[in-house]
Amino acid sequence: MIRMNSHYKKLKASYLFSDIAKRVSTFQENNPDTPIIRLGIGDVTHGLPEACIKALHDAVDEMAEDQSFKGYGPEQGYAFLREAIAKNDFQSRGCAIEADEVFVSDGAKCDTGNFQELFATDIRVAIPDPVYPVYLDTNIMAGRTGEFLDGRYQGIVYLDSTSENGFVPPVPEEAVDLIYLCYPNNPTGATASRAQLQEWVDYARKNKALILFDAAYEAFITDPEIPHSIYEIPGAREVAVEFRSFSKTAGFTGTRCAFTVVPKDCMIYDEKGEAHALHALWNRRHCTKFNGVAYPIQKAAAAVYSPEGQAQVKALITGYLENAAIIRSAMKELGFDCVGGDNSPYIWVNGKSDSWEFFDRLLKAGVVCTPGAGFGRCGEGFIRISAFNSKANVVEAMERIRKTLT
Ligand code: MLT
Repeated sequence: MIRMNSHYKKLKASYLFSDIAKRVSTFQENNPDTPIIRLGIGDVTHGLPEACIKALHDAVDEMAEDQSFKGYGPEQGYAFLREAIAKNDFQSRGCAIEADEVFVSDGAKCDTGNFQELFATDIRVAIPDPVYPVYLDTNIMAGRTGEFLDGRYQGIVYLDSTSENGFVPPVPEEAVDLIYLCYPNNPTGATASRAQLQEWVDYARKNKALILFDAAYEAFITDPEIPHSIYEIPGAREVAVEFRSFSKTAGFTGTRCAFTVVPKDCMIYDEKGEAHALHALWNRRHCTKFNGVAYPIQKAAAAVYSPEGQAQVKALITGYLENAAIIRSAMKELGFDCVGGDNSPYIWVNGKSDSWEFFDRLLKAGVVCTPGAGFGRCGEGFIRISAFNSKANVVEAMERIRKTLT
């Protein structure tokens, strides 16, 4: 008899964004004349930057010729991309990250979900609330939680992100072993200051803990005071892994390319307390379970760092941030408190009512958002609005929301 991993029984029936997609398609079937504007899942809508498209075409042509054809590439990514990442994303900001500490992958979702495989089942895990559901769900699947009671999984140390703490939780009083952080935050759009991140790094060093730092939305930071990488914080090389993605930065949600940085200074401990290099373990896992991102996609990603690529990416981000400003000011005018949207594509709106009910009210007007409750108990009462759409659609969506709520 084939037996199931019974931890899967503890999961909510479906993944948040699949659940929303189902509700939206049911609404569409019943209301075929209401055109839908999607400001729910953070999926980009503009075409890829021209520099990336050119690099992609050229690389596809290379694949047609025996002399330039590429079969299996290095699992960790081609040197041209790892070097461009280390130089442009880290060394240029004074972060001592080397190319061989960068692991190219097909998504930050997969990497943040897979990374927990390296850890013992009985470690103490701290997870923010609200949170990108992947961090929590993958720990449930791995058996690191008890049952779901009163909106919370037993065994998890929840880090409440609320308006009282500016949506940046303080370090916990107790010692934990693994900490998930995401800044600019998904879903709240809040950012963490240098001083706040320093507290987390100091805490992790004191407790021999590890921070999994998701920086997928780093490209949206406009305030020069806000750190782009955890490695801008002294000591972080010893205790932090960072996840980045080309998805939101350069429109690669459908093209798939991301990377994870595992510094060689990060240690992990066995049952005798002996230290092992995390880099070697992740490399072992990566080589065993992954065969690398397609060569043309890596070429397209590397083109992001060309002067034209940088200008085109900046234009994309600026456009989405302009949308975010429109959303934020429309929701504020309607009397809602908002966070995010200035250094982030997400606006976290205090709807002062049940999240799913608010979601349904906006859906009736043909606008899709994400109910905050789907991200955790502290998300109840909030909705998340994403700035990923055309300006015309965002303006139209705000007009529909205004009409439906006033
Ligand atoms: C989101 O909407 O939270 C993200 O798009 C989901 C993801 O990146 O997987």
